[in-house]
Amino acid sequence: MTLDTSACAAVSEARLQQRHDRLAAIGATPRGGVNRLALTDTDANAQAMLVDWALQRGFRCSRDEIGNLYIRREGTQSGLDPVFMGSHLDTQPTGGRFDGAYGVLAGFEVLEALADLDRPTRRPVEVVAWTNEEGSRFQPGCMGSAAFTGVFPLERMLAAKDRDGITAGEALAAIGRAMPLPARPMASVRPAAYLEAHIEQGPRLEAAGATIGVVSGIQGIRRLAVSVHGEEAHAGTTPRAVRRDAVSAAVAAIAALEALLHDTDDVVRFTVGRMEVAPNSPNTVPSRVDFSIDLRHPDADTLRTLGDRIEAVACEAARSRRCTAAVTQVSHVQPTVFDDATVALVREATRLLGFPSLEMPSGAGHDAMYLSRICPTAMVFVPCLGGVSHNEAESATASDLAAGTRVLAAALVALADA
Ligand code: GLV
Ligand code: MN
Ligand code: MN
Repeated sequence: MTLDTSACAAVSEARLQQRHDRLAAIGATPRGGVNRLALTDTDANAQAMLVDWALQRGFRCSRDEIGNLYIRREGTQSGLDPVFMGSHLDTQPTGGRFDGAYGVLAGFEVLEALADLDRPTRRPVEVVAWTNEEGSRFQPGCMGSAAFTGVFPLERMLAAKDRDGITAGEALAAIGRAMPLPARPMASVRPAAYLEAHIEQGPRLEAAGATIGVVSGIQGIRRLAVSVHGEEAHAGTTPRAVRRDAVSAAVAAIAALEALLHDTDDVVRFTVGRMEVAPNSPNTVPSRVDFSIDLRHPDADTLRTLGDRIEAVACEAARSRRCTAAVTQVSHVQPTVFDDATVALVREATRLLGFPSLEMPSGAGHDAMYLSRICPTAMVFVPCLGGVSHNEAESATASDLAAGTRVLAAALVALADA
C-alpha cells in the first residue's frame, strides 16, 4: 500500500493545541474540565467558534435537521460523495477537554493542513460535529449520527426531553435562531467513508507505551431505564414491615444486578450512573426511584443474554421490598467491527509515520459505531493520561494529539483521492 504522507508534515501541533485551549474555554469548569451539555448555549457557542474558524479558511458550513454541523472543503470532483471526519463538541457535565473535541479539531486541522499546502483532493472532505454524542442531557446518545444513519427516526430524537421537559427539537430551534446556518437535509449527502480520531479514554495505550491505537471496533452497549415504585410514608412512624421504600428496593435491585453481572475476568461493564429519588425529602419514605443502566460487552450474545436477565432480577428484588419495578430499554447497540480495508489504512499510515501502536477495540461508544453501518469506517486513538476520561482531569499531550492527527491526515488523503 502506498500512502501519501505529505500532508502530515503540514499538521501543526501548536495550532491544534491552541484550538483545544480556545474551545476548552467554552464551558470551562473551575477544576479544569468542561461542562458543555448538548444543545445548550454553551454547545452553540463552541459550534459558533468552529464556524468562525471555518469561514476564515473559506470552508463552507451547514447544519442538518438534528443539528449536525458540517464543514466542507471542496474536492476537484465536487459531485462525488465526500469523506467525513468528525466527533462531537458536547461533553459530560463534569467532562474533559478532549472527549469529542479532539476528533472535531483533528479533522479540522487536517482540512487546514490540506488548505495550507493547496493540496487538492478528488472527493470533497467534510468535518462533522455530531449532535449529542454523550447522551447526558438527552437520551439516547449519538443522537446526531443515529438520525443521520437512520438507526433511530429523526422525530424520536427531536422529541427526546431533558429533565426540565425541554425537547431536543425545541433546544435545536433556539440554537438555529441564535446562530443561523445554511440548512442541508441529512438525506442529501452520503459519506464515502468516515474516520474518527479520539482519545482512548482507557489505560491500555499508555501502559503499552503506544502513541496510536488502531481501533478494530467498539463493544456493544445496552442502555436501560429502571423505575422503582413504592409508597410515601412518615420516616419517624412507619414500621419496617409495612414500608414500601423505593430507595431500599432500588439498592436491593442494584446489589442483585451487580451479583448477576460480576465476571471473574472483568469484561462486563455495568454502571448505574443516574438516580433520581422522589419526593426527595429527608423525612419521607421515598415512593419512587428512577435509575439508569449502562451495560457493555464485546460479545453480542453475551450482551443480549445478560441484558435480557435484568428485568426479572430487578423486579424480584423490588418485590422483596414490597415495591414494583418497570424496566425499559433505551437503546441496544450491537458490537461494531470496523471495515478491514479502512482499518488497514490507519495501520499503514501509523507504520509509515513510525509511531508505536496497539491494535485494540474501543470500550467507549462513538458516532463511528453508527457511521460504520452506512460506510467504511475506522478510528484512530491516542493515549490519555492515566486512562482518565469523563472526568475534569482528562488530559492528553500535544505531541500525541498531533501524532493522531498525522495518521488521520494520511488515511484521509488516501480515501479522499480514491
Ligand atoms: C461515550 O461517551 C460513551 O458513553 O461511551
Ligand atoms: Mn467521545
Ligand atoms: Mn464521552
